[in-house]
Amino acid sequence: MEKERKEEVYQRVKDQIKAALEGETDLIALMATIACLLHHSFDYFSWTGFYRVVAPGKLLIGPYQGTLGCLHISFDRGVCGAAASKEETIIVPDVHQFSGHITCDPNSKSEIVVPVFNNRDELIAVLDVDSTEYDAFDEVDKRHLEEIVTFLRDKK
Ligand code: SME
Repeated sequence: MEKERKEEVYQRVKDQIKAALEGETDLIALMATIACLLHHSFDYFSWTGFYRVVAPGKLLIGPYQGTLGCLHISFDRGVCGAAASKEETIIVPDVHQFSGHITCDPNSKSEIVVPVFNNRDELIAVLDVDSTEYDAFDEVDKRHLEEIVTFLRDKK
């Protein structure tokens, strides 16, 4: 998708997400709504969802859209684990070149994983978006997805 078009779609989906989240504080409901709205806004998103931090060093599947996701990921595995342990966004243009990538969907070719923090700056989850296209994600996705996960900061 062209950068300008991406910007437009992100602006629209952010407005939709803000409107849908208005007055809601339940974290799972919010994650489910964000995953759904994002997933259906971009045709290059093939898997869109959250892994929640449920114990030190442990991620568990949260609300998502797409093909079956694996349930448990530890911080020392996969792109999700790397983003969680480094607490920074990771863009992988070709998952086959990422050592330790976890193949949930064999058609997945690139991905972005964004850490999610609460208002005490503690890591509570990661947002994982996969694509069946190579090199699908760039700085535009990073900037907007990082902003979208801040909508979860002051929620329970
Ligand atoms: N992409 C992940 C695994 C989770 S799924 O793709 C849904 C990873 O290597 O961290």
